[in-house]
Amino acid sequence: MDKKEIMERIQKGRAFMHMQEEDDPDYKTDQYSGIKQPPLFKDPVSEQIVDLPTDFEQLNLTGNLLDVINARSSHRVFTEENISLLQLSYLLWCTQGVKGLRGKRYATLRTVPCGGARHEFETYLCIQYVEGLKSGYYHYLPQTHQLECLKEEDNVKDFISVTEQKQDWACKASVVFYYSMVAYRAEWRYGIFTHRVALIDVGYVSENLYLACTSIGLGSCAIGAISEKEANEAFGLDGNEEFIFLSHPVGTIQESDKQKELDFYAFVHDYDE
Ligand SMILES: Cc1cc2nc3c(=O)[nH]c(=O)nc-3n(C[C@H](O)[C@H](O)[C@H](O)COP(=O)(O)O)c2cc1C
Repeated sequence: MDKKEIMERIQKGRAFMHMQEEDDPDYKTDQYSGIKQPPLFKDPVSEQIVDLPTDFEQLNLTGNLLDVINARSSHRVFTEENISLLQLSYLLWCTQGVKGLRGKRYATLRTVPCGGARHEFETYLCIQYVEGLKSGYYHYLPQTHQLECLKEEDNVKDFISVTEQKQDWACKASVVFYYSMVAYRAEWRYGIFTHRVALIDVGYVSENLYLACTSIGLGSCAIGAISEKEANEAFGLDGNEEFIFLSHPVGTIQESDKQKELDFYAFVHDYDE
C-alpha cells in the first residue's frame, strides 16, 4: 500500500464512525420498510445439550463493584487448571444472559445493554479445562441458558494458536470465548449504520466478561487480533452473514505470576522518556 492508499483507508475508517444521515434523508431500514424481523436467536444444531447451573450464590464473589473495577486488568498468564461449570455458566450469564423479552418477541433484554436491543452477537466457546465438559467446540444458547456441543476435540491448542494469531499464551486458557456478529439481526433495524453501533455494543460484552472474571478470581484478555477464517470454519459460520470478530481467552491465574504479566509490557519501556 502506498501513502495515498493508506490515507484513503484511514479516511474510510473515519467515515464509518460517523452516522452520515445527511447522505439520503429518504433512506429507510428494513424495519421501517415493514419487513418482518429475523430470529432473535440461533436454534441449536446439535443434540448434545448441556444445562447450565444458576446457583451463583455458591460462587465466592470477591469485593464490591468498585473493588472489582479497580482490580480488573488483562491477564495473559494462565495456570491451566479446570474452572467449574458454575463459573462458566456465571460468565455466560453476565455477558449474554437473557433476563426477559420486550414486547411479545420483539427483543431480548439481557445483562448487557445493546443498541435497539438487537443483541446481534452469538457466543462460541473453545473449551479445554471445564469440569464435566469434554474439550472441544461449543455454542451458548441464551434462550434457555444451555450449551450445545458442536464438536468434541481432544487437542484444541493448535486451533487457539492459529485463531489468536500466534499469541500462544492463550493456549493455556481454560476456555476461549469467540464472539460472532449475526449481521442481519442488527441490519434489519439499523441498515447502513449497523456496523458502527455493533462495535460499540461489543464493548459492553467484553467489559462484563472482564469484570465477571475478576469477581471470581479468573483472568481474561480481549483479543482483537484474530484469524477469522479458521474461527468461522470451526464454528460452522459462513463468514459473511455471521462471522467471529472478537475473542477472549479466560483462565485460572495465580498471584505469583504478577511479574510475568508485567513482562508482556516490557516493550513499553522503549518509549519511556
Ligand atoms: C478490543 C480490544 C482488543 C485487544 N486485543 C488484544 C490483543 O490482540 N492482544 C493482547 O495481548 N491484548 C489485547 N487487548 C488488551 C489490551 O492490550 C489491554 O486492555 C491494554 O493494554 C490495557 O491493559 P489492561 O486491560 O490491563 O488495563 C485488547 C483489548 C481490547 C479492548
